[in-house]
Amino acid sequence: MKSNPLLLGLCFSLPCLLASAKDYLISTNQTSLLIKADQGQMSSIQYYGSRIDAKDISSVYDAGQAFWSNSYPAFGLHSWGEKAIEVVLPDGNMSLDLVVDQVKEYTSSDARITEVILKDKVYPFVVKQFYKAYKGTDVISTWVEIVNNGDKPVVLNQFASAYIPVRRGDNWLTHFHGNWGDECIMEEEKLTNGQKVISNKSAPRNAHSDNPSIMVSLDGQPREEVGHVIGGTLAWAGNYDIRLDATNNDLNIIAGINEDSSRYILDPGRSLTTPEWAMTYSESGKGGVSRAFHRWARSYKLNRGHVTRDILLNSWEGVYFKVNQAGMEQMMKDIAAMGGELFVMDDGWFGNKYPRNDGSSSLGDWVVCKEKLPKGLDGLIQSAQANKIKFGIWIEPEMANTKSELFERHPEWVLSQSNRPLSTGRGGTQVILDLTNPAVQDFVFGVVDNLMTTCPQIAYIKWDANCGIMNYGSHYLPADKQSHIYIEYHKGLQKVLERIRAKYPNLVIQACASGGGRVNYGLLPYFDEFWTSDNTDALQRVYMQWGTSHFYPAIAMGSHVSANKNHQTGRVVPLKFRFDVAMSGRLGMEIQPKDMSAEDKIFATQAIAAYKKVRPIVQFGDLYRLISPHDNLGLASLMYATPELNRAVLFAYKTSHFVNQNIPVVRLTGVDPDKYYKIEDLTPAKADKKCSLHGKIISGKVLKETGLKLPLKGEYSSLALELTAQP
Ligand code: GLA
Repeated sequence: MKSNPLLLGLCFSLPCLLASAKDYLISTNQTSLLIKADQGQMSSIQYYGSRIDAKDISSVYDAGQAFWSNSYPAFGLHSWGEKAIEVVLPDGNMSLDLVVDQVKEYTSSDARITEVILKDKVYPFVVKQFYKAYKGTDVISTWVEIVNNGDKPVVLNQFASAYIPVRRGDNWLTHFHGNWGDECIMEEEKLTNGQKVISNKSAPRNAHSDNPSIMVSLDGQPREEVGHVIGGTLAWAGNYDIRLDATNNDLNIIAGINEDSSRYILDPGRSLTTPEWAMTYSESGKGGVSRAFHRWARSYKLNRGHVTRDILLNSWEGVYFKVNQAGMEQMMKDIAAMGGELFVMDDGWFGNKYPRNDGSSSLGDWVVCKEKLPKGLDGLIQSAQANKIKFGIWIEPEMANTKSELFERHPEWVLSQSNRPLSTGRGGTQVILDLTNPAVQDFVFGVVDNLMTTCPQIAYIKWDANCGIMNYGSHYLPADKQSHIYIEYHKGLQKVLERIRAKYPNLVIQACASGGGRVNYGLLPYFDEFWTSDNTDALQRVYMQWGTSHFYPAIAMGSHVSANKNHQTGRVVPLKFRFDVAMSGRLGMEIQPKDMSAEDKIFATQAIAAYKKVRPIVQFGDLYRLISPHDNLGLASLMYATPELNRAVLFAYKTSHFVNQNIPVVRLTGVDPDKYYKIEDLTPAKADKKCSLHGKIISGKVLKETGLKLPLKGEYSSLALELTAQP
């Protein structure tokens, strides 16, 4: 079927209803998605790939490259196989016959949106499919709004956000599997026929077991800077399901909320909006996918993504629950002396009737423990001000302990079942609040609002969530809507976060959930950053941060220098290696400074100063992953570069150590071959012992094609080098 280029031209100049247009080309700078939507017919995806123009559409069809793939296949009619939607209509009919009613195209402040409205041929049931091309990025997202226009409830058994065809060939899947303390570990595998499902059922921490983000390569084993790769992420913080359905000739990605235990009843006149599935298409391998997502995140999916992040000291590994006035004041003085900009008081500061001394009490009682902090938060803020640093605080506002005044007052605010004993989490007493309940939403908003009203100087909040939904029961939702808990919990949480952001747009908030349990684009728009993992071991972080970097930018990746030996692994690693790893993300410290030697404090002060110098390159630059730790070459390396390629930072970490070991050459893909770069050692082990590359001026051509032989000798050798293009 050929399109009419004249008609297409018209579509793009008129932000109006265009029921007669058939081919809708949705484009970013480098990518295009082609939808075919004829009135009264099914809507289909015909193409997703490198950018094409209206004049190329007929070639897509003529070359036999059109997919003809139903954009939202419904159960019960026309075909077999995987579907996007399955319902039970009021008369028991389980089929839908969705056809195009109309197509709208319009521009919002951040995007160009194409809305395809599908209607059932017989029943008053509507599915609005949205395609959003974000301005200035290469990300297109899609989601649906499902509307029941009838006068009786409709049951939704399946309600995907996206059903995306992928060109079948030598497809490989990259995904990010993990666990507590071992988050986001890259896995790559060839997609054979059958189904591969990446899913999660650990709400509200959905990123520990597997991140809701995947890459699919179209032409063999995925590589960093070459090859055609689709990347996609589900912007949802709850249970999710990403299904890759492959046969000899077809491959489809079906992504959305995980419908298991989440049958949704749509009352008359009500609608359900599914989360965005955001995707990009890269001609330059996985690196291209990552850079596209990082830019999108900084522009649209991160609170204040264009503002540099402070260098902080977080108190957790330094004192754990043993918070007191003198201890906090000493830590503030120490981090300020090393050049830090922010101090965050972690867990252990609250509760009066039940002071928080371990994980078994006090969550919900968000009042300062007078015994531990007699001068209150004001006293701490004054100390921070005297040290010329900012002050931040830890909370876990969605939670309670059964040993808390909150639980004594409101046992009905907790997700639980009245006729069964409570299952509890951390400390044997932790439970989760019922965020489906508007009164609970008010309370959770109030936790932040009260803190900020009484202490407006608070600059940073670490928002933790250390418990899953272990008691599936809401005292707020009616009996017939108990299956909505997983979904309504997150909608409730989003409402709270929207209120917080409306009132406190500049407050820095970190998303933490037992480490990296909430690294997803469902929550990140409300947050400034995330805690990557509770595991701060620098060597294991090389792997975790490698995986995390595939979809999430360095500016958001909390990365802290911690004690020697490391508290999680017991590994002993030089301070330089620990800094070089932490400096590749949002640098911070998670240590007791009073236990550091004078020599280590001098090193830390110099490294912090060096980070400040290159911070804009790390936090706003483009990432190029150079040597993967998973290739077992004994070396991992990555770099950040400005878009103009005039400044860059190179990081390299020796990941194993043997006699007569061959250290691979590192080819710097993020440089301009026509420029010359001066190299500066950012973190010399001793100020007067810079590495042998320091001060050298090397051509971009050599750096990129021939590569650098890095002077990495001892165990846990590492380098952080700045490259500056010479005028
Ligand atoms: C979680 C977080 C840690 C720390 C503790 C405090 O485990 O991930 O960083 O804040 O809670 O209890």
